[in-house]
Amino acid sequence: MSIKNRTKIKEALNSTELNRTITVKGWVRTRRGNKKIAFIALNDGSTINNIQVVADVPSFPDELLRHITTGASVSVTGKLAPSVGSGQNVEIHAENIELYGSADPASYPLQKKGHSLEFLREIAHLRPRTNTFGAIFRIRHTMSYAIHKYFNDKGFFYLHTPIITGSDAEGAGEMFRVTTLDMMNPPRTEDGKINYREDFFGKETNLTVSGQLEGELGALALSDIYTFGPTFRAENSNTPRHLAEFWMIEPEMAFYDINDNMDLAEDFLKFLTEFALGHCYDDLLFLNNMYDKELLDRLKSVTSTDFKRITYTEAIDILSSSGVKFEFPNSWGSDLQSEHERYLVERHFKKPVIITGYPKDIKAFYMKQNDDGKTVRAMDVLFPRIGEIVGGSQREDELLKLETRIKELGLPEKDLKWYLDTRRFGSVPHSGFGLGFERMMLFITGMSNIRDVMPFPRTPKNAEF
Ligand code: 4AD
Ligand code: MG
Repeated sequence: MSIKNRTKIKEALNSTELNRTITVKGWVRTRRGNKKIAFIALNDGSTINNIQVVADVPSFPDELLRHITTGASVSVTGKLAPSVGSGQNVEIHAENIELYGSADPASYPLQKKGHSLEFLREIAHLRPRTNTFGAIFRIRHTMSYAIHKYFNDKGFFYLHTPIITGSDAEGAGEMFRVTTLDMMNPPRTEDGKINYREDFFGKETNLTVSGQLEGELGALALSDIYTFGPTFRAENSNTPRHLAEFWMIEPEMAFYDINDNMDLAEDFLKFLTEFALGHCYDDLLFLNNMYDKELLDRLKSVTSTDFKRITYTEAIDILSSSGVKFEFPNSWGSDLQSEHERYLVERHFKKPVIITGYPKDIKAFYMKQNDDGKTVRAMDVLFPRIGEIVGGSQREDELLKLETRIKELGLPEKDLKWYLDTRRFGSVPHSGFGLGFERMMLFITGMSNIRDVMPFPRTPKNAEF
């Protein structure tokens, strides 16, 4: 039987053309029945729903049926027939069953009973076979597609920015080094330091924390670009919202000011949420019923509400007069912690919030400085249950101000010469932002730990699989 003749289970379940013979292939979820008849729930990952295979036990060899247990892989050919009891409209009456691989019930880790998410993280190589992770990874795919669709339809160009770089875009110094030097015996300079001139690239390099700086180079030629790629942060944050390797979407737009930037971010987030509701409903319904009864309502509410826009100074005033005892106290000048962000979103405004006008000292060097000399045109979008989901800004487009800021912060100016050239030649007002893809996935799926929306998460002391 050629692959071409195989029907995906999703298509079989939606079929209205019955009483024809088809072949489905997949993994056995459960098997029940008696000596005469066996009911096999089969899943191939194309949908959360299983197809029921009905087999007349005496027509099949014992040696074959013995192996039809949870986790085994099979090909089933049979008639597609109306079903009464399976919870689906159709089922398959098996004429031929071929076993690909058995799965010994004594050692197969995924049994019929539910497993905790913590346990499933330890067997991340098998968890895609569960309903939960099948749903999450299908949604992840659909969201990736929606991101490209959104920007393509708006005339943005997908720009591939480097993963290995020599610069630290965010200036936070949380980078993973990339080197081919012999760690046991590295070449040294005369003053005893490691001599990176002898390294692969002839200089120090690391994995990128953001594609933004190169993204700006693209925007100042193509007008509207976006990146969508892996980024890496060596921050030792063992929280349910941080990964050491995560995917980021970074649009960058020439001729956009901070207000245009906020409008785009809000429209984009609403589009993605609506797209999920329209294209992943079966999977979302499952997650809603299984983990988070408010998920669907929360998603719908975000698509239909205007995000609240306030300044950082207003946010500090609200927090100070809230009467709430926060774990981290704050005053003007301190960064907002996730507890503050969630208070503003979940308790005060009860909707997504965009904060602008942050103190320049807690934000990156490239942000456009306001005339007050204290704040920058930054914007963070805060979401319910997540806190910061998007970080962005209008960019400093004046050469002198940017150079002065780079000096003030003691950043390596020579490494940023190419970046400064964009301000030297044909500089324009421009803006952009970064959406953490896994933060968005947390919001869309209602999962509470970021390790559960990344197929193979990397976190401090964990790079298994
Ligand atoms: O706020 P961040 O650091 O902004 C930037 O990197 C800018 N260069 C973006 C831009 O303007 N083009 O990161 C952007 C977003 C955050 O809002 C958050 O959603 C996500 O990336 N993020 C993380 N997600 C998972 N794990 C981490 N360790 C993350 N750090 C940031
Ligand atoms: Mg940020």
